[in-house]
Amino acid sequence: NKKAFIFDLDGVIVDTAKYHFLAWQKLAQELGIEFTPEHNEELKGVSRVRSLDIILELGGIQASQEDKNKWLIQKNEDYLSYLVDIDESEILPGVLPVLHYLKDKNQLIALGSASKNARPILEKTGIINLFDAIVDGNDVSNAKPDPEVFLQAAKKLGATNENSIVFEDSVAGIQAANIANMTSIGIGEATTLYEAKYIFKDFTFIDVSFIESLIN
Ligand code: BG6
Ligand code: MG
Repeated sequence: NKKAFIFDLDGVIVDTAKYHFLAWQKLAQELGIEFTPEHNEELKGVSRVRSLDIILELGGIQASQEDKNKWLIQKNEDYLSYLVDIDESEILPGVLPVLHYLKDKNQLIALGSASKNARPILEKTGIINLFDAIVDGNDVSNAKPDPEVFLQAAKKLGATNENSIVFEDSVAGIQAANIANMTSIGIGEATTLYEAKYIFKDFTFIDVSFIESLIN
């Protein structure tokens, strides 16, 4: 029995969601827009371009394409400055045991991320070889909650949607998985991710018997 396990990256595999937040918050501050952790939940899982639009809408700011491009570059440079020295210690607790368990059980593993920085992050943290397929922000044109990223991942793995399981920390990502008829697993707070089929605070709460139940 083979299932497709599709992992989001930021906030699921690696602790980079906090760096996205810091970089967006810095930009918002410069633009005089109040940007709180609650606002940030809306940006999780969402593409870089769409995220900026949401922030500008929040501040009631209409900007030229030129300004937007400048701010997108600025945000990404700021974000990347946090990633210069990252290594395997950036991998969130409990994630590696699950990935290795799935590998041992011959299950299919894919990345399904909105990030255009996904590959270098997987390389720096030393886990890129665990993935049978990678679909990231360079491959898709529709941001989560559009299911495109997960549909592409399942297709690359040769799996049906019904046999695909998605790990996500974002509301948009859970919605995308649900729209695709995949099993959605929320990683984070139940108050935020209540649309998920299963919710765990983090991977340390996921035990072997639960993973077994998904495989069988
Ligand atoms: C998602 C993050 O994984 O990727 C978002 O949750 C981020 O916060 C998006 O904006 C795009 O990432 P990047 O690295 O291409 O700016
Ligand atoms: Mg995420």
